[in-house]
Amino acid sequence: MDYKSQINIKEVPGHVAIIMDGNGRWAKQHNKPRIFGHKNGVFSVRSVVEGAGEIGLKYLTLYAFSTENWKRPKIEVAALMQLLVATISNEVSALNKNNVRLLTIGDLSSLPGNCEKELQKAMDKTKGNTGLSLILALSYSSKTEIINAVKKIASDVVENALTIEDINDSVFNSYLDTAVIEDPQLLIRTSGEYRLSNFLLWQIAYSELYFTDKFWPDFTKEDLFKAIVDYQGRERRFGLTSEQVGK
Ligand code: IPE
Ligand code: IPE
Ligand code: MG
Repeated sequence: MDYKSQINIKEVPGHVAIIMDGNGRWAKQHNKPRIFGHKNGVFSVRSVVEGAGEIGLKYLTLYAFSTENWKRPKIEVAALMQLLVATISNEVSALNKNNVRLLTIGDLSSLPGNCEKELQKAMDKTKGNTGLSLILALSYSSKTEIINAVKKIASDVVENALTIEDINDSVFNSYLDTAVIEDPQLLIRTSGEYRLSNFLLWQIAYSELYFTDKFWPDFTKEDLFKAIVDYQGRERRFGLTSEQVGK
């Protein structure tokens, strides 16, 4: 099935977010260690980033490492960090060739020094690109992001830079890591799990959710296109009636 040709290119969502899950189970299925799954997951990232560019997506956020993931066995965490460094340095030229700008959300300072450095370098080298913005969520926790926003708002109120009456949806939004990025219209999670795992809790208040049983290393741009076709078949009512949104 060619899903790409079914996409209404004029109504492609501006922002798609993906919880890339199932690398470990995919590896197990292939009788390999978990890291083999993570390595193969990189091919899926490449394919999906390429696909996102092809259909003119503005923002693609990939959940790559949560703060909870730090509690995994040391050897897996170390391998993931190493894979991250290698992937970033390998991919920078491809990102530039495809006009992709790299951004991150999460606590970069908690990553190993070489990881943080490689990421900063890649962000710097791609900052002028005007095509897709690829946002990697690394050492990311949505609750921490929200708490940090609350602390910053409280401190701005104390310093008279903000009044309590000023605080509203859009002001609060501007204090998040994703401040300048529109909320995702579509959230995808792979591997047959139906939960959010502390990802973008505020930002997905009205996102369409799409779940697939495929493990992340089996997910390709064709699957992304399929999810977008599914999304485009939905009616987003935002609390209104079907008649009001008038399709
Ligand atoms: C997702 O795959 C990658 C990360 C969370 C880093 P998992 O490693 O969670 O794979 P499963 O869920 O154990 O199969
Ligand atoms: C969520 O996957 C985090 C990432 C995809 C990076 P997990 O595998 O860590 O989530 P849980 O443990 O199933 O909730
Ligand atoms: Mg998992």
